[in-house]
This record gives sequence, C-alpha cells and structure tokens, in this order.
Amino acid sequence: MTSGHWRTIKALPQMSLTRLFDKDNNRIAHLGLEQAGIYCDFSKTHLDEEAVQAFGKLADDMKLSDKVKALLSGEVVNNSEGRAAEHSAERGTGNPASVENARALHQRMKSLIEVIDSGVLGDFTQIIHLGIGGSALGPKMLHHALKLGDEKYELAVVSNIDGVALEPVLERFTAAKTLLVIASKTFTTAETLLNAQAVLDWMREEGVTDPMGQVVALTAAPEQAVEWGVDETRIVPFSETVGGRYSLWSSIGFSVALTLGYAVFEDLLAGAEVMDQHFQTAPWDQNIPVLAAFVDQYYTQVRGCETRAVFAYDERLRLLPDYLQQLEMESNGKSVTLDGAPLELQSSPIVWGGVGTDAQHAVFQLLHQGSHLVPVEFLAVVEPGDSLDPAHHQGLLLNCFAQGAALMAGKKSDDSHRNYPGDRPSVTILLEDLNARTLGALLAFYEHRTFVNAALLDINPFDQFGVELGKQMAGKLAADDGNQLDASTEELKKRAFGPGQ
Ligand code: F6P
Repeated sequence: MTSGHWRTIKALPQMSLTRLFDKDNNRIAHLGLEQAGIYCDFSKTHLDEEAVQAFGKLADDMKLSDKVKALLSGEVVNNSEGRAAEHSAERGTGNPASVENARALHQRMKSLIEVIDSGVLGDFTQIIHLGIGGSALGPKMLHHALKLGDEKYELAVVSNIDGVALEPVLERFTAAKTLLVIASKTFTTAETLLNAQAVLDWMREEGVTDPMGQVVALTAAPEQAVEWGVDETRIVPFSETVGGRYSLWSSIGFSVALTLGYAVFEDLLAGAEVMDQHFQTAPWDQNIPVLAAFVDQYYTQVRGCETRAVFAYDERLRLLPDYLQQLEMESNGKSVTLDGAPLELQSSPIVWGGVGTDAQHAVFQLLHQGSHLVPVEFLAVVEPGDSLDPAHHQGLLLNCFAQGAALMAGKKSDDSHRNYPGDRPSVTILLEDLNARTLGALLAFYEHRTFVNAALLDINPFDQFGVELGKQMAGKLAADDGNQLDASTEELKKRAFGPGQ
C-alpha cells in the first residue's frame, strides 16, 4: 500500500509556485503555521492541499500516529539497539518514570551548579567543555546563540583531536581558575579523552596540585568516568536512552546552564516542551514538524533533490547548520529499513548551509542559476540582537525575504546568462525573538521533523553504526600490529610518520 501512496504523490500535477499562489487565495493561511513564538512559512514550496492530503495518507499508512505515541511514551523505537529514545522525557513528555528520573538528574545538575557558583570547589571563572559530536555541537551552538557577553564564566568548547583547537585555549586560560567539563555519553571517545588528558597535564604543569578536583563529567556511563578517576560527586549522569545528538537537554547542557544560568536551561526545556505538545496533538496538516517532513520528502523523493540548504539570517544562529548536519544526517543517513531490508527511497538529504547575508555573496549563485534544485530554508528573528542603527537588522531581514522571493519569482531574460529560471522553493522560519524558549522550541521542531522523515521512510533514526568503521580503522592503524591496510593508506602513513611506522 505504501508504494501506492508514493505513486500517487509522484503523479501529483507539478505546478509552478506562482501558479500555486494564483490557484489558492488562502495559501498563506493554509501553509503558514505558528507555534511557540515560531512562524513557519511553507507557502513557497510546491506543496498544496492535495499534496498535503496525499502525504497525510502515506503518514497514516506508515502508522505515524503510533510511532509518535511510541516515541513520546518511551517505548523501544531504536530497534537495532533495543532501546527507547527519550530526549523528550528530559523536557517533561514521556514515560512517567523516565520523566521523574530526568527531573532528579536535572536537580543534581542544578545542585552542582549551585556548589560551583558558591566557590567552594574553587575560584573558577573559565570552563573548558570537552566533547565531540552531540556532546559538543549542541552546547556550542546554544552558547553562541544565547550568550550576552557579560557572563561570570568564559566558556570554550573544544571537540577536535587536532591540538590546534585546544592549544590556544590553554594559552589563554589560567589553570587554577579553569573547570574542566568532560562531556561524553560513552566516556570512551578517543578525541575527548585525549583532550581531557592534555588539559589535566597542562593543569599539573601550571602548578595545580589536584587537577582531578577541577573535573566534572557528564555521561551516561558514570562507572567509566569513575574508572577514569572522576570523583562521583562531580559526575552528572544522564539516561542511556538519550541519544548523543539529542542530548543537549540532559546533563550535556551543564556547561551552558552553568555559564548562562540554570533558569536559561529551564526555559530551553520549557520551549521544547511546548513543541512536544504541539507535535503530539496537532493534526498532520497543522503540525509544523510533520509538514516540514512532508516538504523534505517531496523534494527528496519526487524532485530528486539531494541536498537541503539552511541559511540563518542571524549571526547568533551561525552554528545551527553544523548542529543540524549531525542531527539529520547521522539520524537519517541510512540505507536499510527498520527490519533491515534495503531502503528503496532516498534517505536524508545532505544538509549544508551558512549565514546570511555572507552566503549570498558566496554560494547563492548556484541556488539561483545552478543546475541543481536545492530547497532552501531561511531562518530569521524579528527582534534584533544588536543595538546598532536599526538599518542593520532591517537590511538583514529584507535581504532574507528578498532571496526567498527572488528564488521563487526568477526573472526572464533573452540573454541566457542573465536569465533566472525561478520556481525555486524555500521555507522561511521566523522567530519572534531569539531566547532560550524559542530556541528550545526550534530545536525540538528539528528533532521531531527528523523523526517524521525517518517514520515515512521506515528507518531507524536513533542508531549510527556508520561512524563505527572509521573508528575501528583508526584503531587498527594506531595499533600497527603488522597487519597492513590497503597500499594507498600505507603509503600515506609512511609519508606522514616515516618508513617502518
Ligand atoms: O561519532 C558518533 C558519536 O557516537 C555521536 O553519535 C556522538 O554524539 C559522538 O560520537 C560522541 O560520543 P560520546 O558522547 O559518547 O563521546
């Protein structure tokens, strides 16, 4: 039956965006949805009521309602690893026992923050947060988006194993005043542990007598952290059922909560909870994450788009595309369905993007005239984040809106070099203000959209076996046990480390 729905969707008449606007005077009312301080304009996409209905039938056939219920009530939805995906329990929606557990762990996090703020653990003014992937991208993006610049603590988030990332932080920071926060769900990640060791060595060299006394660990494997030497009282655990790329709501948000204040973290959770409720209750055609996934599927499966570009017209959201790359591509970059059969549809589009207006002068040429069709997502914030002449913010927003309009309208010219084909789709997401609540809601929206995409494809968005092979190979290369890899890799190794290495 499912393939029948895809056939129907693929056979829908393909009208231009301008024609779609002409056809439906109420297009804005149908395709402009608002929730939790976020307005999503889907009207510049090729969806119309007929397409939304057809996708709705597909969603019903894919048992989307049951899948949402299963997700939000803590059932096992990550079938390859036999566990639930309970990030929403962190913000109050889920299995009551998991919600209770999350509250208790948040309380522990809050208490530790109070202890650190009181100064009894040391006179800390600087924080090095070490983590990678989901243990870094979320905290880094949140901090960048919400910091005001007058915080009590200076926060540096370091992820890369490349010493070039950590060294300048060590040069700038004062060891005695530095709190080291090690964020790792598994507490086995090579990059994070090597960086942590380097920070401890630096502290020792700088005369700190008890570096481990300046360490906090955020992890779902507290026993590993204890084994590594972290004092139990400074380990803030989170549940194994919270996936790495969904973990900023858990204790992984500790450094952000410490730097920006626990109330900010609570607002983040509260904003996300509003989106959770909306996702759980709104009918498909009024449901923002669901409609966004319909748009995604339309362009990926029907129009053959292989990428989706996200441009934040707000410096504070500069790191959002990086965060979304992991969320969407690590979740939905899969080639098999839940039962392990080959996926006959395209999986996640490649997510890329940047910040406006910079990107206009770099990559927008391809969006307007290139041969690829790229669905674009614009994000903008109504309230300015600066206090300069309002001309800055006005210019920013007008540029954002103009790009969407230009992509759609195009411009005909007899000179083919100067011809703009138009009919290029975009979604615009407008936040009334950028604060912890709206950002929380926005991130929950992206999580649920990713889930709906997975549900429509019948794939598991919660495992990530694809990243394991590279890790194993790195281990093999480092082990240097005489077992040669391919000739090309061996040559590279020889050139980097010399013969016999
Ligand atoms: O590289 C894969 C991954 O497992 C991500 O999913 C995760 O966010 C990241 O590594 C970091 O893992 P950990 O938090 O266990 O250090």
